[in-house]
Amino acid sequence: MSDTALFPLSEEHKMIRDTARDFAKNEIAPVAAEHDESGEFPQATIKKMGGMGFMGIEVPEEYGGAGMDCLSYVLALEEICKVDAAHGVIMSVNNSLYCHGILKFGTEEQKKQFITPIASGKAIGAYSLTEPMSGSDASNMKSRAKRDGDFYLLNGVKSWVTSGPVADYFVVFMMTDPEKKAKGISAFLVDGKTPGVKRGKKEPKLGIRASATSEIIFEDCKVPAANRLGEEGEGFKIAMTVLDVGRIGIGTQALGIAEAAYEASIAYAKEREAFGQKIGEFQGIGFKIADMKTRIEASRLMVYNAAMAKERSKTTGERFSLQASTAKLFASETAMFCAHAAVQIHGGMGYSRELPIERYFRDAKITEIYEGTSEIQRLVISRAELGLR
Ligand code: CAA
Repeated sequence: MSDTALFPLSEEHKMIRDTARDFAKNEIAPVAAEHDESGEFPQATIKKMGGMGFMGIEVPEEYGGAGMDCLSYVLALEEICKVDAAHGVIMSVNNSLYCHGILKFGTEEQKKQFITPIASGKAIGAYSLTEPMSGSDASNMKSRAKRDGDFYLLNGVKSWVTSGPVADYFVVFMMTDPEKKAKGISAFLVDGKTPGVKRGKKEPKLGIRASATSEIIFEDCKVPAANRLGEEGEGFKIAMTVLDVGRIGIGTQALGIAEAAYEASIAYAKEREAFGQKIGEFQGIGFKIADMKTRIEASRLMVYNAAMAKERSKTTGERFSLQASTAKLFASETAMFCAHAAVQIHGGMGYSRELPIERYFRDAKITEIYEGTSEIQRLVISRAELGLR
């Protein structure tokens, strides 16, 4: 949200942040509660976000993107998530889980065909890794891709696919050589209109209800071998590399939710009176505000730091898993902490659907679960620090 001494923002950064802030206030805020209530995918606003260049911020202009840096992406996403985390995750998945992997590992043809419609906002992308029996243990998948001449036949069920019911294109991970376990996984780019791609049931969710999540079922889905992303057996590495970027996005989403909960709490604490004074004057409320602010400031530094590490990796090729996982872990726990405190500060009004506070509370929880639970982030961080595998 704000300029910090560690991350002084350029004019370009301020411009994208302010543009996203205005867009979120004028276009998303009026419809956020309605979409949360109905669970209907916000097609109209997502289309407009595409037109604004928000769906492929780091994608070079030649592939339909905005050609900006990772900090620009994070600044814009933070503003969108402050207003609505559901719009935020659709934006995050398009930018990171979908576009980033193809940009990094795709051929020129694949970039033109599979990134351009997504980055320009004409279509929606999705990432299919998780299966009904393998979430955290991602490499333990049952789905199979079998080579058949110039094609692969894809069979299996993917679950918890963000934007699954509406996505036009998918990055899909399937086992091509089960004996090799993680090294037997390959990645494929699949057009959602390909025969054999079926949309499964839409998940009824606690939060981020306007983002559509579903199973995707592949039944003898014939995909050209030219649509394989990377080499055979390289799929798990691609999935993990892409998740490092995705985790920066979810850290940003969590930061946005925490900030929204905090700002609402400040306003309420200054206005609401009890026992003859503003409730903010009670230490019990003031200390909550102080703890929220401290954790938000730390989260913001960690998320921006991860974005800068990702930016540097474009030239150094260095991994930024540690920065991404620490930022995601801390920011998601901050989102839960702040949303919980905001409900408490608002009392009955925090529990009422008349205010967005209870939505922040419901939305915050998913940030501790998807794109790697907090337990998985702790595993990634501790393994890296202890030099373990
Ligand atoms: N970057 C590059 N390579 C990586 C990597 C990374 N971040 N992480 C692991 N690898 C490589 C390893 O180096 C290793 O390769 P080598 O053998 O050549 O060294 C290989 O991948 C296997 O790694 P591990 O032995 O560490 O694998 P593991 O089976 O122990 O699993 C894990 C590691 C961290 C637990 C991983 O499975 C994981 O992150 N699980 C969580 C999955 C997840 O986040 N799922 C969310 C899906 S998306 C979603 O939520 C829905 C949505 O649409 C938003």
